[in-house]
Amino acid sequence: AVRLRVREALGAREPADAVRVQGWVRSVRSQKEVLFLHINDGSSLESLQVVADPSLENRDLTFGSAVEVQGKLVKSPHKMQNMELQAETIHVVGPCDIWSFPLKMKERHPLEYVRQFPHLRCRSNTLGALLRIRSEATAGIHSFFQDNGYVHIHTPIITSNDCEGAGELFQIETSSEAKESAEKSHFFNVPAFLTVSGQLHLEVMAGAFTHVFTFGPTFRAENSQSRRHLAEFYMVEAELSFTESLQDIMQVMEDLFKTVTSTVLSKCPHDVELFQKYVAPAQKSDITHKLFSSSCRISYSEAVEILKQAPQTFTFKPEWGCDLQTEHEKYLVKHCGEVPVFVVNYPYDLKPFYMRDNEDGPQHTVAAVDLIVPGVGELCGGSLREERLPFLESRLQRLGLTDAYQWYLDLRKFGSVPHGGFGMGFERYLQYILGVDNIKDVIPFPRFSHSCVL
Ligand code: 4AD
Ligand code: MG
Repeated sequence: AVRLRVREALGAREPADAVRVQGWVRSVRSQKEVLFLHINDGSSLESLQVVADPSLENRDLTFGSAVEVQGKLVKSPHKMQNMELQAETIHVVGPCDIWSFPLKMKERHPLEYVRQFPHLRCRSNTLGALLRIRSEATAGIHSFFQDNGYVHIHTPIITSNDCEGAGELFQIETSSEAKESAEKSHFFNVPAFLTVSGQLHLEVMAGAFTHVFTFGPTFRAENSQSRRHLAEFYMVEAELSFTESLQDIMQVMEDLFKTVTSTVLSKCPHDVELFQKYVAPAQKSDITHKLFSSSCRISYSEAVEILKQAPQTFTFKPEWGCDLQTEHEKYLVKHCGEVPVFVVNYPYDLKPFYMRDNEDGPQHTVAAVDLIVPGVGELCGGSLREERLPFLESRLQRLGLTDAYQWYLDLRKFGSVPHGGFGMGFERYLQYILGVDNIKDVIPFPRFSHSCVL
């Protein structure tokens, strides 16, 4: 018998005599004359209907059990499906105790419920759909950059730099170092951290390959109770040499978003539909809206003016020089008509050392851009980088970082060019396109949740 995945069986053009399908049972319906099963193997949202003689029924054939079915693939008489499998044999590979199995047949489990079972929730429809979309989006991101002439770089996970300078670092040590007292030698001789961003390493590579990208795990020791922050998340980062305008950076952000989102739409239409129907019904058909919606561009200074004139009071009073808070981001998005908003040119003192001085006053603003989107907040952050040696030298000196960043200063001595780049949070991207409220529901394994430490 030819082994077929459920997706292949469902999409088959022709009936076939001897096929074998393996998967997990999603429903069992036993009637007097016929036994109906639905089998799912994760290759598609849709399950394959199996029609069998009631004599094939057995005690272990329950919801959740793993089975192998052999039989004939035939055209289905039902309008809703193309093909079905007429079983000749059904073998239960692995039984499932339905009384203790936390998923129940034909129930639509809320995301909060399945989050308690990180090791089992991938067998629910919603997480199944999410993880297939996540997989296609990952491939789409790689294709987008590869097709546009970017070289992919594996930037280090373990590093000694704090790119963002925000002190949200996880420091790493060997387990024996952790047991002993703090001040002895480090494994790498210097303190080592899990990366907060691959940007500085990408800047090195942009000095040789012109256009580069990285897409990997990123770590930040920040409040993980929030519905848009993770301690471990994936970031897509791009760096472009010979780039003098923020406009060019924003264009790449937008092209990336549109290309990847249309890939997801065309590769996983049913999975996307599930989110529109059941997870974020208010934003029905919104993914296409998001794909074609226009965007708005304002400067940080304009943003602060808009906030100051807002008819509502904020918990954090808007003031030039202060960070934009979630409530501010929300208001700005609403003010612009619920579309993505690019905010450019932030105060010099708010942003990391690598951002390029706009010289619109003594250390007044830098060429930074944040992309803020409805429902999620900041999706991308980027900037032009300070490519001028004297500017960078004096900034690093004021921060006491000159020694640590000698290598970075070297890049400004040996063929320095105007350049810039950005990072996009992958989980926030998924949250935005699918309308998912909590960031823990767009990752494969929610960490340290209730019952299970995976
Ligand atoms: O704005 P951030 O901090 O930018 C950087 O790290 C730059 N070095 C990137 C670059 O220019 N190459 O982070 C980029 C994006 C944010 O806009 C946000 O979407 C996401 O990463 N992000 C998080 N996502 C989930 N959980 C967290 N704790 C996140 N912190 C940042
Ligand atoms: Mg940022």
